[in-house]
Amino acid sequence: MGAVFASSTGRRWAVPISHRRLNERPSAVLFLEDLAYRYNLEMSQADGQVVIRPATPADCRSVAALYGGYVRESLANFELIAPGLEDWQAKLEELDKLGLPFLVAIEGEELVGYALLTPWRPRPGYRFTVEDSIYIHPQRTGQGLGRRLLSELLAAARAWGAKQVVAVIADSGEPASPALHLGAGFVEVGRLRQVGFKQGRWVDTLLLQLGLEDLPS
Ligand SMILES: CC(C)(COP(=O)(O)OP(=O)(O)OC[C@H]1O[C@@H](n2cnc3c(N)ncnc32)[C@H](O)[C@@H]1OP(=O)(O)O)[C@@H](O)C(=O)NCCC(=O)NCCS
Repeated sequence: MGAVFASSTGRRWAVPISHRRLNERPSAVLFLEDLAYRYNLEMSQADGQVVIRPATPADCRSVAALYGGYVRESLANFELIAPGLEDWQAKLEELDKLGLPFLVAIEGEELVGYALLTPWRPRPGYRFTVEDSIYIHPQRTGQGLGRRLLSELLAAARAWGAKQVVAVIADSGEPASPALHLGAGFVEVGRLRQVGFKQGRWVDTLLLQLGLEDLPS
């Protein structure tokens, strides 16, 4: 059995046993990390109107609408056709199986953002590296929500046992995503030139990386 982290909403994030072996942390440490994680999540829910919590299947329609807007209107990603409700439900199910976090930010009844982690690459040697994805409702950007959501996501990444987080950012001239990630401690590690073509433009991607802890070489 891997370690299991339960959020205050009951969603459980399992840390795979392979990660536990690498960490070799005593269960008391895991227990304290769990408490700290729950405390942070509860504080984030208490300090404003926006609640951050794990996504449920009922959120997928709003997630699809939010992401779909960015697919159609922006160069924030290189999808040309927006994934539908079933695609998002399948993604949630897949991330749940892997124990990876898929968080939503909810204000009242409205979804105002989401953030998730996916495996960086499918091959098992990459299993300690994840990629983040974060989207805020276009009417709520620039108000600190991205920073808050990313900070929760990184806490969940640590709890899961990730060692490295990679952000792949389309360098379309929009400054928000690089600013968000650099502000959270990511560093630029590369640029892939003209790998994307969308809306009649060739677009570079920036690779940013955050190490969650120092590892022995
Ligand atoms: C990128 C995104 C998630 C950032 O979230 P946000 O809520 O707008 O950002 P925040 O208000 O939390 O700001 C986070 C940081 O970025 C900076 N920032 C945000 N927008 C900025 C802008 N337009 N220009 C310069 N800096 C900006 C803020 O000053 C803040 O810096 P600080 O932490 O040093 O104060 C959001 O703008 C978004 O969803 N954009 C469209 C989709 C997208 O590009 N997603 C990322 C895919 S990799």
